[in-house]
Amino acid sequence: MHIAFAASEGVPFSKTGGLADVVGALPRALAALGHQVSVYLPRYRQTKLADPATVVRSITVPFDDKYRFASIITGGSQGGVKFYFVEYPEFYDRDGLYGNPAGDYPDNAERFALFSRAVLEASKVLGVPQVFHCHDWQSALVPVLLRTIYAEDPAFVGVGTVFTIHNMGYQGLFPPETLPLLMLPWDLFTMSKMEFFGQVNFLKGALAYADFITTVSRKYSQEIQTAEYGFGLEGVLHARAATVTGILNGVDYDEWSPQTDKFAAAQYSPQDLSAKAKCKQDLLAAFGVANADPKLPVIGIVSRFAAQKGFDLIAQIMDRLAREEMIVVALGAGDKPYEELFLRLNKQFPNKIAVKVAYDNAIAHKIEAGADMFLMPSRYEPCGLNQIYSLKYGTVPIVRATGGLDDTIEPWNARAGKGTGFKFTEYNGEALLRTIKQALEAYRDQTSWQVLMRNGMSKDFSWTASAREYGKVYERVKQMRAATPATSEKVLV
Ligand code: ADP
Ligand code: GLC
Repeated sequence: MHIAFAASEGVPFSKTGGLADVVGALPRALAALGHQVSVYLPRYRQTKLADPATVVRSITVPFDDKYRFASIITGGSQGGVKFYFVEYPEFYDRDGLYGNPAGDYPDNAERFALFSRAVLEASKVLGVPQVFHCHDWQSALVPVLLRTIYAEDPAFVGVGTVFTIHNMGYQGLFPPETLPLLMLPWDLFTMSKMEFFGQVNFLKGALAYADFITTVSRKYSQEIQTAEYGFGLEGVLHARAATVTGILNGVDYDEWSPQTDKFAAAQYSPQDLSAKAKCKQDLLAAFGVANADPKLPVIGIVSRFAAQKGFDLIAQIMDRLAREEMIVVALGAGDKPYEELFLRLNKQFPNKIAVKVAYDNAIAHKIEAGADMFLMPSRYEPCGLNQIYSLKYGTVPIVRATGGLDDTIEPWNARAGKGTGFKFTEYNGEALLRTIKQALEAYRDQTSWQVLMRNGMSKDFSWTASAREYGKVYERVKQMRAATPATSEKVLV
């Protein structure tokens, strides 16, 4: 089947978080199963292309004040997947993908509306797929456009849409005037379509119009149908429960494996763990704490700094955690209050928590390879990738039992020698502290700790199984479309 991905970031061309990892790896896994896959991304300042060539010179995108003209650049093929970039420097040639330190860009609605329209128009030249697979609010207008102002376009007869929610916390909310600005009809501004508490909600549009909705773990697919995790869209999702499913993200073991990691100081395997000690020394040196006792357990953190990730819990318990024999190494960047929090904790407990406020892929790898444990106390986590990387590196995850964290980590049972990590359920500092102490206690028995490490290292979360699940969803969508009259504008909720 021909599938076209539309997404706002993808490895190796652009990345702020896990969405990029998924968009970098899933298309290749689909291609390996025999699908034809094209990926559309914006061409940002950080997008480095070896051999860029323009394949579509001019795509007209109407806005109410003027027409804008984008072009399409090819990034060539990688692993059997074709990459295309929407070029429109006024919108994308900027330092940040979605904003700058002052906040989100004020023209994000226009930026990603242009992207979504350009993808549809480009596909008419480069090949209309059977299914558009869109991701998060930035490409949420693709299904909306297809079923509204493009509903009568003969090029798209029978074309289906799959929409994947990577994070319900980001919905693309804009003032009502956005609709006429983007030349979209006012009748989208109703409760069953894109209206949301007086604003236009891009994500809600996709939830109304996509043929099928997926999210990135089974548990999260259930959680987002509840008020606690639905960010106000739980009702909309619940109404579509028959066409919502959770498919766990895979990971790309070519990128994330201790046996081949080029950023780690040494390579190791389940058969011979000895070189992990060298990675630990190298990690401590990278954080300027090379003189720390190498026997001290190291707890690693690699994260976007955002409320989602649960770091307010660390602030609650840091004074008591600091009495334990351990050291935390944290790499992260994002929201100012959390950056400041970590820098403050580092000042207060310099021997107990080392911090780098940065986005740094090499250090992220060094943490996976060199730490003994990996901490993700997330408030919510659609899937989470770092805990899955950690398993492969024998870096034992300590997680809150939510979303994909709950689906991927099994609690350690020392007596049975079973399990892969430590988890807690209640969102509070006490539960977190209790669980970290449990892990530190378990670490003292190095013989059974190695069983725990190897349990994690033997898990296989490669993409093949999940790619097959997506294949089934595409097939279902194709059949749904074949059974639907060509030009019906049908809201599915
Ligand atoms: P999310 O997408 O919510 O940020 P995930 O766990 O799915 O969470 O994915 C995060 C990805 O981004 C991982 O590949 C992780 O290594 C990477 N990452 C996050 N923060 C940083 C950082 N400060 N430096 C380098 N890589 C980071
Ligand atoms: C989101 C989620 C994260 C998930 C990633 C990729 O950013 O926060 O949990 O792993 O998308 O699906």
